[in-house]
Amino acid sequence: MLNTPHAMILGTGRCVPEKVLTNSDLEKIVDTSDHWIIARTGIRERRIVEPGTSLSDLASAAAVNALDDAGVKAEEIDLIILGTVTGDMKFPATACMIQDKLGARNAVAFDVSAACSGFLFSLRIASAMMAAAGYRRALVIGAEILTSMVNWQDRDTCVLFGDGAGAVVLGPSVDNRGIIHCCLGSDGSCAKLLYNPGCGSINPPTPENAAAQLHTIHMAGKEVFRHAVTAMTNAMQQVLQEAGIAPDQLHLLIPHQANLRIIEAVAKRFDIPAEKVYVNVDRLGNTSSASIPIAIDEARRSGKIAPGNLVGMVTFGAGLTWASSVIRF
Ligand code: UT7
Repeated sequence: MLNTPHAMILGTGRCVPEKVLTNSDLEKIVDTSDHWIIARTGIRERRIVEPGTSLSDLASAAAVNALDDAGVKAEEIDLIILGTVTGDMKFPATACMIQDKLGARNAVAFDVSAACSGFLFSLRIASAMMAAAGYRRALVIGAEILTSMVNWQDRDTCVLFGDGAGAVVLGPSVDNRGIIHCCLGSDGSCAKLLYNPGCGSINPPTPENAAAQLHTIHMAGKEVFRHAVTAMTNAMQQVLQEAGIAPDQLHLLIPHQANLRIIEAVAKRFDIPAEKVYVNVDRLGNTSSASIPIAIDEARRSGKIAPGNLVGMVTFGAGLTWASSVIRF
């Protein structure tokens, strides 16, 4: 059965860096090829920040766009949740930096660590806090500078990731529009399939650990791929079933943009035709927690989502974590 939404999306925004890193650029850095990258991932290029750009800069720019779009002032925001694993610093939370940059002095601000599922986890938390704790205007952001933890000598991973930020402003639901249902899941037994072992308290950033590249992304790609298809398919199935929605009722599916083959496998399982599946992995690569909110903003601004449309979202990432949601825009 369709749930009654508590929170709806009032506005969206995004910010991606101007600098483009193409597959041909990568051919000059590691032993790879444009042909291999496109065939195995669907990625043609990604955006990367210039040195000196902080995550809070990118995220604040996306947030300003979302606030403008929503017609909401920064002081009206009472909650800021940022999904990220590449914050400005280990502490304080980057959401606090964003609060300061925006002048959102009435907000409580914190970060959520759920890797590529960070945005949908944050959206779920925000909608629950609005339903149960009286928050009225929330800013939910997914933002990453993954290139800050890429090992540019590791061709298994360095071709996959890009930088960017996306944001939504939530307000109280009207006309049954908003977040209808969300499903979240985790499996810590597979944590070491995709992880960054350095910089934490187990492996502090010593010169030895830095030389061993412990501060970079380590991934067992094939296994992660297998888990991604299964977890995203199951999460999609669960959210549709629990909300009482058939796949063909979805106007658009926005899957996490990690690999075109994963996206196609999930869409095929639900018989969703390609024209109803949002894809930007070819232009942006995998931007982790930023991938879904960037896609939402692109889809809204290009007219692919209109008010009243039902949109499905599904993601998967390190943790392992996964999440799905159905939203009526
Ligand atoms: O964001 C959420 C989590 N992340 C993901 O969902 C990513 C999931 N994994 C994947 O997308 C895929 O596993 C990859 C794109 C990472 C790799 O594709 P694959 O089809 O699983 O390739 P593979 O790792 O099995 O490698 C096949 C071959 C290997 O060579 P041999 O052993 O067959 O001779 C690799 O060494 O391709 C080689 N290879 C490359 N060749 C050219 C691996 N990376 C590259 C590369 N360029 N960049």
